Formats: sequence, structure tokens, C-alpha cells
Amino acid sequence: MIRLKSGWLIFMLTVVMLICARDVNAVPLDISGIVFQDANANGRLDADEHSLPEVVISDGVQVVRGDRWGRYRLSTESSRVLFVCPPGDYRANGEFFEYLLGHRNGDIVDFPLVKHDCSDTFCFLFFTDSHVTAEEKFNAVAGMKAAVAHMSRQEVDLVISGGDLIMDALRACEPEARAQYQLYQELVSPLKVPLFNAVGNHELYGVYLEGVGEDPCIVEEDDPLYGMGMYREYLGPDHYSFNWGPYHFVVLNTLGLTRVRNSRGDTIRTYYGTVGPEQIEWLQRDLQMVPAEAPIVLVGHIPFVSLTLTFEGYHDWQVIDYDLEDPKAKSFVHTVNNTPRVINKVLAGRRIILALAGHHHNYEVSRWADNEHDLTFVTGGSICGQWWAGDRRIAGSSWPEGYVLVRLKDGRLDDLRYVSYGWRGYKERQILDP
Ligand SMILES: [Fe+2]
Repeated sequence: MIRLKSGWLIFMLTVVMLICARDVNAVPLDISGIVFQDANANGRLDADEHSLPEVVISDGVQVVRGDRWGRYRLSTESSRVLFVCPPGDYRANGEFFEYLLGHRNGDIVDFPLVKHDCSDTFCFLFFTDSHVTAEEKFNAVAGMKAAVAHMSRQEVDLVISGGDLIMDALRACEPEARAQYQLYQELVSPLKVPLFNAVGNHELYGVYLEGVGEDPCIVEEDDPLYGMGMYREYLGPDHYSFNWGPYHFVVLNTLGLTRVRNSRGDTIRTYYGTVGPEQIEWLQRDLQMVPAEAPIVLVGHIPFVSLTLTFEGYHDWQVIDYDLEDPKAKSFVHTVNNTPRVINKVLAGRRIILALAGHHHNYEVSRWADNEHDLTFVTGGSICGQWWAGDRRIAGSSWPEGYVLVRLKDGRLDDLRYVSYGWRGYKERQILDP
């Protein structure tokens, strides 16, 4: 009997612990640590290694600079992801971020960095919209393997992805969404250079699962995995920055979540393109750590501008009242709704040279050359084309499955090239190999 009772007690405690683990209330944390040159790349500060002074650390809200002995201190919360923004001639040894969940007040989080040769001229690769899925019909696993093998043959220093990495978590129940994230991680693991990811709308877990109609499951908004939560769990911070040579890269989450009224008058959850207020505050703090002359590269899934819309045409249903309290607050879903604010106010006086995006699956390049800027906006095609069915098609134009090679030189954008990796989607195969 006693054994039965203690068994029940352990069972109930386990249930409570599991519930608590999921329903994470942010706990205040004081975290400190040291940033150091990990010369032998073993992850530890050895006697013959030295600290790196004044390196920037952030939790996505605050941005602090270490002291001249490489030490930093930050008062933060357990729900956040801590990351290092390495100087241009260093990169993280392993992940550049650390989850604070599970850490205790007073914990130490060190960041080992390794030195790398980097000049103001180098190439990197930008791929977007891979939409990986194990669903057989799409043949996406073979497609992504072919894309990664092709990309691995390019001489590049780093790879950046532009979101919509998985097929869809907006409508996927937890096991299926998790499986897609795990598949993405597995498929990009052969890449030999650092990979920096951005979050896309299809990474946002459970947004369309409200228990309406035939929803196979319901995901509540207070679920810690809801929206960006699952992305963060697998791929780290949804906005961050890093330096590579003299260039400052800012990876943004260009997605907002809101409720809109549908044609039946019900309010439903959806996403839209924006750089949210908290992220703008973070970006302002981040920029304070960056020399005024540094060339800046922006990355975000939903584009700041889009030529696609002119070709595809505008539709009323793509314009939403993103703030139900404010009848004037209208936003086109598929571009960032506060582009002028980000470019002309938050980044005023900065030398933004390039803004990379995904979302539309087409390759387009536009140049905004005013008195202040010479800024190139790129939508980087897609790995999956028409969601693995074949070439992406918009209004009589088409693009193959591919990615973008970018060359930066002397602080400027020097070259851009869209590269097909030669994939044939399942519908093309049906036509060509009946
Ligand atoms: Fe997409």
C-alpha cells in the first residue's frame, strides 16, 4: 500500500513537473560569463588562452558589451535565448546562442570564439523556402539533399537561410511539426560552413489550429511552443546579429501575429509582415554597438519591398486590419508594413547595402538609391520552387529551384547570382517521366 502511494506520488510529481516544464513562467536570472578565444576549439578557457574584450552579448531585448577582461553580466529571464555577436574576425565555436531555460540565478555562461581569416571581400550563400517535409508525394528529402550537396560545392564563407525552412507548422500538430524541424536540422547538417537561420511564417507553430472546423488539434496561445516558440526551441533566437569582416549582419523576424476578423465576423489568428516594436528597440540597442560606417546586411523572411505584387496583382483579402482596436491599422500581409520606419528612421544614417528575403519563392532584385542609400533588396527564389511541384510560377514568369550567391567587396555588394541546382519537381517528373 505504501509502495502504491509513493508510486502515485512520483507519478503525480512527474505530471506536475511536465506541466510546469511546458507552462514556463519566465524566471528572472542574473547571468554572467566570459567571452574568450578558444584557440584549441575545445569549448573551455584553458590556461594558455585569453579572454576577448568588449564583445557584445544579447538576450534579444538587452544588448551589453563585455568589459576589457571579456566579462559580461546581464539581468534577464529564463524564457530568453542568450547569444553572442562576435567581432568580424571571430565566430562562435559551435552554437552562437545558449538557452536560458533550465539555468539558475547566478549561472555562468561563457562564449568560446574561434578566430577566422576574414577580409572585406568574401562570398556567402543565401537560400530560402526549403519547405522540407517527409511526405512522400513531394520528394522533398531527396530535393533538399540535392540542394545541400550542390550548395556544399560552392566556395563560400557562410550560409544564411531566409525562413520557411519546413513545409508547415502553422497547421501541424506537435509531433508532426517537431518531425519537420528535426528533418530540417538533419538535412542541413552536411553544410561545412556556419549556417545562420531566419524564421518564416511556416515555422510558426499552431497559429491556424484554433479548434475551428476540422482542425486535428488545438494549440493555445499560452503554449510556450505557440508561434515562434517551437522555432526557438530548435533553431535558437528569432532575431540576432553577427559581424563578418567589416559587415554587420542583422537577422530579423519580420513576422507579427495578430487576430483578424474573417468574412463570417469571427476573429481568427494569423501572421503579417512587420518588424515588431520590441525588436525595433533591440535593433536600436544593437546598432549602438556598431560603428556608424559599418556596411549592414539585413535578413528577414517577409520582404521589405516586393515586385511580385505588381505582377501578381493586389487582392483585398491580403490586406488585414492587423489591430482590431485601430480601424486605420491596415497592412498588406506579404510585405513588411513598417519598411520606411525601419530603413529611414531606425537605420537612419547607416549604410545598409543589402536586404535579403524569401516568402514569394521568386528571384527578384530591386535597388533603392536615394540621397541616403544605395540599398539592394533581394527576394532569393526558393529551394522548393512551387512547393516541390516544379518551377515557381507567377503571372507567366517562372524560376527554377535554386539559391543566391552573394559576393561582398570593399564594403559593398559586388555580385549577385541566382543558381539553379537542377531539381525537377514531382509534377515535372510526372510530365517528363510518365
Ligand atoms: Fe514559402
